[in-house]
Order: sequence, then structure tokens, then C-alpha cells
Amino acid sequence: MLNVPPPAFPAPRSQQRAAGSSRSKVPLKPGRSLMDWIRLTKSGKDLAGLKGRLIEVTEDELAKHNKKEDCWICIRGLVYNVTPYMEYHPGGEDELMQAAGTDGTDLFDQVHRWVNYESMLKECLVGRMALKPVAVPKEISSISEEKKQLNGMLPEKKLLGVSAKDLTPSYDWFQTDGLITVVIYTKQKDMNAELVIVDCQDKRLRGEIIVNEHSYVLEVDLDHEVEDFFINIAEKIGKVEIILKKKDNVHWKMLGQPLESHNTFIKRKNRGLFYRKCKLVSKTEVTHDTKLFCFMLPKSTCFQVPAGQHVYLKQIIAGDCISISNPEGNFKKSQVQALEDLFFLAAGTGFTPMVKLLNFALTEVSSLRTAKLIFFNKTEDDILWRNQLEQLALKDERFEVQFVLSEAAKDWMGKQGRISSSLLSGFVKRSRKDSKVLICICGPTPFTEQGVQYLKDLGYSQEEMHAFTA
Ligand code: HEM
Repeated sequence: MLNVPPPAFPAPRSQQRAAGSSRSKVPLKPGRSLMDWIRLTKSGKDLAGLKGRLIEVTEDELAKHNKKEDCWICIRGLVYNVTPYMEYHPGGEDELMQAAGTDGTDLFDQVHRWVNYESMLKECLVGRMALKPVAVPKEISSISEEKKQLNGMLPEKKLLGVSAKDLTPSYDWFQTDGLITVVIYTKQKDMNAELVIVDCQDKRLRGEIIVNEHSYVLEVDLDHEVEDFFINIAEKIGKVEIILKKKDNVHWKMLGQPLESHNTFIKRKNRGLFYRKCKLVSKTEVTHDTKLFCFMLPKSTCFQVPAGQHVYLKQIIAGDCISISNPEGNFKKSQVQALEDLFFLAAGTGFTPMVKLLNFALTEVSSLRTAKLIFFNKTEDDILWRNQLEQLALKDERFEVQFVLSEAAKDWMGKQGRISSSLLSGFVKRSRKDSKVLICICGPTPFTEQGVQYLKDLGYSQEEMHAFTA
């Protein structure tokens, strides 16, 4: 139902609200809680208002439904009648109305990409947006076309547009007695394991390949069961093989039935989040109000979380496991290539995305001369990983950490205060004139915004900063 970021796990920064907005939850009328909504969706009432029919909605039709009493919103190509949900929306009616009669995908993602609207609004589904007759960019294929069986031939490519045609990955497959090999030609040099995400469970295969801002998905209900799978990547030529071990050594007549997203190549941000269930393997106390949760991906999933990226967690209410999404985030490793000076400005759990990045920079970036962390917290007890950070500073002379407290006890010998221009000017200094520098910032939105502003005032360029936000 609702995707709840678990309480003690640091929330990804992308969950922070956009600058300057007055967004917050509103008090809901009695009888309008999430549980009440769930009850209503299960009551059998016709919430979509179409007596069970699904229709194709044109843009003109969508635009007509722009009033509170008759409000349709399109998210990722599907149109929902949100009028019944209006009073249940925790962000309030006015927020929801911003997207009335339009494609609300970007707005929705900006505020709460992790909310599982598909499940919450299932009963409000009106239908699918009609494809524009002249639209060459074809981001989501029509189901009817996709319901053809895959017969081993290369299916028609889903094009982004004529110019993008040649960049669209394609796939093929072949078999031996014991194996099925699905080959994806990504047409992308420097393919690597961080760009390949595969889930294969209960005859359902989903492979996603990240190609810059886009992603290519293969999604098939396989012809037969498989026992296991492996991934083989020919990095230089950009070929990815998903090798499935057949459960029974029978001859497959076809790879399987294509599912909704099969063979599509679209912008990553336009894909819904894909989750798989994960087991909690340990829970460790880090500070008085922070715990470290370790989850294990199921055997049927293979992916890595690249440095600087994050995942979303979803917990089904009253459920007993956590689901974890694909990795997301706009940080690119190329930002630290040939880097000389790396600075981290972190507030509280904002340090989270920096852990992996710091490790990556110290071990993989040979040009690195300095890595400095300035870590803002309220009190000493709030400092995450203090011991480990101090140890690291002793062990690696390139690394330095400074703790700054806003509510320091009397005996605190370190720095006090909040983020300020003078503090930053003393801390963020190039190791040599014109050195290649990157300053990463993560914390609550006002902290991040102020930090960026101070750095701009100090003369750092946009390319020299990375704020971990949406
Ligand atoms: C597209 C226009 C929408 C806007 C501008 C919007 C805005 C907001 C805002 C401002 C909040 C309060 C967030 C906070 O500060 O915690 C919120 C919460 C929420 N909205 Fe929306 N919303 C939109 C659409 C939707 C839709 C279609 C759903 C469908 C299920 C939805 C479900 C929720 C839920 C479940 C929350 C509570 C989230 C949480 O507790 O983390 N919203 N929304």
C-alpha cells in the first residue's frame, strides 16, 4: 500500500522537498486516514466512475477533468480519477489539484516518488493515455502490440525518436540443452555490472540496462522455469548476456510472453520503481536515534548500488518484509575522475550517501590529494560513525574530519555553530591553485540550499558542487 521509509534508516535526500515550497502534510478530517482509504478501495464502490470499463484518454479529454468534483490525473501514462481520494490525500486537496487534468508525473515524483500510487489508486484507474497519432517518440508500447509471443526473432524496437533509433538496445536469445542465453546489445561502450539489474523469479525475468539517462528493460514471463542465472558482460562492446539455467532440460519453443515493459527504452525517471522483497539480516545501533539495517537481496536479484546513489524502501502495512527498489540518483562516478580535492558538507544522516563515495574516492581515485568532511550535528551523541571517521583520519593522511555542533555541551572543544560562509571559507580550500575540486552537500533542504549559496559566493562553479537532492 504505502511505501514507508523505515523510521531509523536515513531517508534518501531525494525525499527532501523542493526549494521554497511550503509543502507539508495537512490534518485530515476524521475518517480519512490511510486505513479508511484502504477500506473504501475494498468496498467494491465504483471509484473510477466508469462502471468497470477502462478507456483510452486523449489529452483533450484529460484536460476536461480538472475540478475537485471531477479530477483526473495522469501518472506514467495511466489516468486516475482522484476525486474520491481528494479528502484522503495527506498533502491536501490543493496540492493534488495542481496536477488536475494534466500529466502529474513530474510533480508527483518531485514530492514523493516513493509513494505507491499504483496500488493505492488501483480502483481509481480510468485507463491509459491515447497515443498521439503523430508522436514518433514512443515511450511506452501499447499492450496489444506487445501481446504477440516472442518467437526468437528480434522484435520490433521501441524507438525514442528517429535520431535515437540507432542508440536503442536490442536483444536476441538462443539455447543449448541446459541453458538459455539472452543477449542484449546495449550499443554502449564501458558497460559494467553497476548498469545491469536482473531479477528472475517464478518464471518472470526482468532485466534492466542503464544507458545514461535512459533504461532498457526486458520483461518476460518465461516459457519454462529456471533454476539459476548468471550475468556476463562484455564491457568494451557493450554486450550483456543473461544466462538462465533451465530447470528441466527441455527445448524452449520461445523465450516467453512479453510483459508490459518488455523491450522498452525510456527515460529512467519515467519508469516506476521496481521493488523486490528483501530479508533483514541485522540491525545495529549506531547512535541513540539511528540504527543500521542490513538487508539481503534475494537470490533471484542481482544489482549493485553505485557510489552516491540510493534505493527506496517500502514496507507493506502489517507486512513482514521490506521491499527494496532499484538504485537511483543523479550522482555520476565521472564527477570524481581525476579529482584532486573532495569536500563533504554533511548534516546528520545526510552523511549517508557520502560513506560509499568517500571509500570509493580514497581507494579508486589515484589523483586524490585531500578528502575533507565537515560534519554538522546537534550534540556529540548525534555524530554518526565518529570513531570510524577518527580512525580513518589517523590511517589515511589525505582524509580529515571536523565536527561542528549546534547544541554543544560546555566541555566540547571542537567547532560550534551552523553552516556559514566564514566556516566554509576556512574549510573548503584547494590544495593547489586551479585544482580539480568537488564539494558534496547533503542534509535538510535549508542546509543544502544555504551551503550551495555560500559556495557560489566563494566562487565555486556549479560543476564543482554536488547536492544530494532529487
Ligand atoms: C501530482 C500531484 C501531487 C502533489 C503535488 C502532491 C503533494 C503532496 C504533498 C505536498 C504531500 C505532503 C508531503 C510531506 O511533506 O510529507 C503529499 C503526501 C502524500 N501524497 Fe501526494 N501529491 C500529489 C499526488 C498524489 C497522488 C496521486 C497520490 C496517490 C496515492 C498521493 C499520495 C500521497 C501520500 C500517500 C502522501 C503521504 C506521504 C508520506 O507520508 O511520505 N499524492 N503529497
